[in-house]
Amino acid sequence: MTLPTRVKIVEVGPRDGLQNEKSPVSTAVKLELIDRLGAAGLTAIEATAFVSPKWTPQMADHAAVLAGIARRPGVAYSVLTPNLKGFEAALAAGAEEVAVFAAASESFSRKNINCSIAESLDRFVPVMEAAAAAKVRVRGYVSCVLGCPYEGEIAPQAVADVAATLFEMGCYEISLGDTIGVGAPTGVKRLVERVARDVPVAALAGHFHDTWGLAAANVAAALEMGVAVFDASVGGLGGCPYAAGASGNLATEDLIWLLARMGIETGVDLSTLVDCARWISAELGREPASRVARAFDAATSPRWIARA
Ligand code: HMG
Ligand code: MG
Repeated sequence: MTLPTRVKIVEVGPRDGLQNEKSPVSTAVKLELIDRLGAAGLTAIEATAFVSPKWTPQMADHAAVLAGIARRPGVAYSVLTPNLKGFEAALAAGAEEVAVFAAASESFSRKNINCSIAESLDRFVPVMEAAAAAKVRVRGYVSCVLGCPYEGEIAPQAVADVAATLFEMGCYEISLGDTIGVGAPTGVKRLVERVARDVPVAALAGHFHDTWGLAAANVAAALEMGVAVFDASVGGLGGCPYAAGASGNLATEDLIWLLARMGIETGVDLSTLVDCARWISAELGREPASRVARAFDAATSPRWIARA
């Protein structure tokens, strides 16, 4: 399989990256983060989640965040919506794109959204109808695609079934979430091979958490299978509140570095992104989790990218 020449990045830092932060992050910092990500050239930014504030308090200011974005032309700002209530609130705050999220594991579905997989898919039907009526695009997530904190190994067939249902419902893209970062390249290849029998590979995205340091290797494996959309979180921020021990997503700057060194275009300026990773990490009172944000030197590093 020839590698794609260009990859689309979905930046999930403001949502997946911040949702697990224990101390409140101000709406102003969230808005500055979103703005800096747009300035770096990211064209798909998941801004917040219209979930219950009792379940995920850090996302309680979702309406103020979505309404407050200084929107850049050509940038899609999406938000998570678990049900019709969330969708209606998102629409009222100006959503033009939303994402519904299901799981390939029954136990995780119950822990994360308090219902079975089948119930969650039923809940998405009115969301899809309301979104179609409002001309809002809907992305779909499947969690625990390479392992579940409660059930262990997950069969590729179980992932394919949920992914196919979301795609048939009208989700334009299905993001395959390795929620706890336990996947490895062989499993990624098996998974994509199976799911791509039911959903076109062009409609698949990889969403790899980096708990065990294999997220970049998993991206490389998925690229070889034809996947050309990847989710990532600036600074490697994040984790899922309902998956104990899960660390952040693959850092966006690590992903850009990997792709640049492989000669694959993303349209993102690494130097601006590294500044953003360092800035948000300082705002949160820590060093950036990502290797690239620590190692990058604006004077010397870009020549490696230019040569890739
Ligand atoms: P529930 O308690 O079963 O909901 O929660 P309910 O319908 O019984 O309602 C209970 C209360 O919640 C009611 O309020 C509702 O109005 C309210 P009360 O009468 O008690 O005052 N409610 C809502 N409020 C705000 N927004 C809403 C909403 N819906 C109901 N949308 C629910 C069910 C789905 C709401 C809850 O379980 C929830 O919010 N879960 C989200 C948890 C979460 O944020 N998880 C992290 C995101 S997913 C993720 O990180 C994985 C991903 O990154 C991919 C990967 O890595 O795998 C996407
Ligand atoms: Mg995630």
